[in-house]
Amino acid sequence: MHEPDAIRPLSDREFRMLQQLIYREAGIHLSDAKKALVSGRLTRRVRALGCRDFTAYYQHVESNQNERTSMLDCISTNETRFFREPKQFEFLDGTVLPHWRAVGEAGQIPKRIRAWSAACSTGEEPYTLAMLLAAHFPAPEGWSVEILASDLSTRVLDAAREGVWPIERSHDIPEGLRKAYMLRGIRAEEGRMRAHPSLKSMIEFRRINLNDRDYGIGGTFDLIFCRNVLIYFNRESKEAVIQRLLRYLSGSGLFFLGHAESLTPSSYGMEHAGPTIYRRVAQAGQ
Ligand SMILES: C[S@@+](CC[C@H](N)C(=O)[O-])C[C@H]1O[C@@H](n2cnc3c(N)ncnc32)[C@H](O)[C@@H]1O
Repeated sequence: MHEPDAIRPLSDREFRMLQQLIYREAGIHLSDAKKALVSGRLTRRVRALGCRDFTAYYQHVESNQNERTSMLDCISTNETRFFREPKQFEFLDGTVLPHWRAVGEAGQIPKRIRAWSAACSTGEEPYTLAMLLAAHFPAPEGWSVEILASDLSTRVLDAAREGVWPIERSHDIPEGLRKAYMLRGIRAEEGRMRAHPSLKSMIEFRRINLNDRDYGIGGTFDLIFCRNVLIYFNRESKEAVIQRLLRYLSGSGLFFLGHAESLTPSSYGMEHAGPTIYRRVAQAGQ
């Protein structure tokens, strides 16, 4: 059998160059323990491009924006689930959303809800939000729901846009919502499920690098989810991202981190509202 040409193993120097490039580009801090992971995930890319070693690959990637995108696609960890960290969704479902609906119906706030899933991976998080928001804020009753779903990786964004998952993923979705909003595949789509078109129409997908200074979006959001991504950042880049995201949070909005992440709320003029959920201090009386 023909063996593909061997590539010289990733040296410490090459690893450091890639480590710095990935940090500059995406804010992701890869510790020295991640050398094997970087080598494992990038070797196929290096080979596919016909580079003889990682130094040649580095030179190529440094001057080529498209390859930087592909490299970050390979490096990023995309694990996700519907209703991941269920306590946060229970808090929304049982407390926050009924309150917003009541004040909306009473004419005290506009009947418009905006949410942002800022590291949306393959879509489970924004579609979880879409199902909950659709159930609480029905369009026929004059509500409008807009969800922005963004990620660094174009590969996961393409999957999220498609809105099709293995049927096993449906077990994480409460039965009522699953029946209302997920379509079980038949024939060619056997073994898969597809999001109802009404959910898809609520979500706009966009590539946004949280490490960029300017996200190029306007307006504010009532809910911002930035979960299970800042664990890959170091303190400095994490704090900068949180500062930038909070500029987009509406006065009564809620900011969500993953449960392995946290922030010191007082450093940002925030306070705890629920499990790794934060709101502005000015809203404390509400
Ligand atoms: C582990 S997934 C988390 C998905 C979802 N938020 C959840 O909690 O289930 C992390 C996601 O962050 C994305 N990511 C990593 N660095 C990023 C950056 N600088 N800007 C935007 N997204 C990034 C990855 O592509 C990946 O899809």
